[in-house]
Amino acid sequence: MTNERNFRIGVLGSGKGSNFVAVADACRAGTVPAEVALVLCDVAEAGILTRAHERQIAARFIPPGKFRTKLDEEAERAYIEALSAARVDLVVLAGFMRVLKEGFLRAFAGRTINIHPSLLPSFPGLQAWRQALEHGVKVTGCTVHFVDAGVDSGPIIGQQTVPVLDDDTPETLHQRIQAAEHQLYPRCVAALARGGVSVQGRRVVSCD
Ligand code: GRF
Repeated sequence: MTNERNFRIGVLGSGKGSNFVAVADACRAGTVPAEVALVLCDVAEAGILTRAHERQIAARFIPPGKFRTKLDEEAERAYIEALSAARVDLVVLAGFMRVLKEGFLRAFAGRTINIHPSLLPSFPGLQAWRQALEHGVKVTGCTVHFVDAGVDSGPIIGQQTVPVLDDDTPETLHQRIQAAEHQLYPRCVAALARGGVSVQGRRVVSCD
């Protein structure tokens, strides 16, 4: 039997790191049977690095290279090597603003997950909360999904709904979606760490 405590997570982020904090603190509190082994970041000044240092969690800035929306070949290799050296079981994307290409996804096949601020498949891409508001939906939310070669298109692990209120602005809606993310992401990571998730085609079945 595997020791659940040894389930190791690598987090990739580019921003303030609130989802990283939610997952890392849930690990520390014991509600997620895992540990964050490493945080990697493509933005030197990002808040996620500070949040990791405050928690004495290993964190590194690795320059992304010459492209704006993806890692270049050398950077991709450096990310893969760092995560492999840290022996991570799961790669958790938490606001990582670059598309991961085939080389990376092959290295962590079926082991890379993302959180997106809408109920996918509605509103993939950027500023999903703004898209939801502009479309006029009454309910939106957030989605945790496996990462595949498409944009926000992999099999869905979990979703949480958030009502859209009549007086919502993009900012107020985004805030409530983020609060939902901070509940959903640790829950989904916990299910994966417990081995309570199986993938049947596009359907992800949780035995929790
Ligand atoms: C989250 O809202 C998530 O939906 C999106 O990027 C944002 C990252 O925020 N993928 P944070 O850095 O976790 O605060």
